[in-house]
Amino acid sequence: MKNDELIIQARDAKDFSYSPYSNFPVGAAVEMDSGKVFTGTNIENASYGLTICAERVAIFNAISQGESRIKRIAVSCPPTEGSANSLMPCGACRQVIAEFSTPATIITVDGVGEFKINDLLPQAFEIQPDQ
Ligand code: THU
Repeated sequence: MKNDELIIQARDAKDFSYSPYSNFPVGAAVEMDSGKVFTGTNIENASYGLTICAERVAIFNAISQGESRIKRIAVSCPPTEGSANSLMPCGACRQVIAEFSTPATIITVDGVGEFKINDLLPQAFEIQPDQ
């Protein structure tokens, strides 16, 4: 799949966003090593802290279906007049991307550009898996 197509899938995933509290729909699409693509969108909750971001929904969707490594991930937020960083993945999602990516994984932020996980989360926390 071409990168542009992955961005379109991320944009389309916004259509299913459940974001009545923020009115900020986010979409994500991950292409895994297998070549399969999984999408996700942000899902909010009246207990605000239970909200989950689009990136993590997409990644957990892939992992829960037997996938292991992210080849590419695209994320799409609504354009805002404010800071360009309102388009960037949050810190929690960066740590989750780090868990399932490689140094070559491409992170495309719609309207901003392409990044590697080391750009977005240098010195990501890691711990040796037990066995
Ligand atoms: N959000 C994401 O889906 N991904 C991010 O990386 C940042 C924030 C969502 C969470 C919440 O539903 C809304 O955007 C406003 O914070």
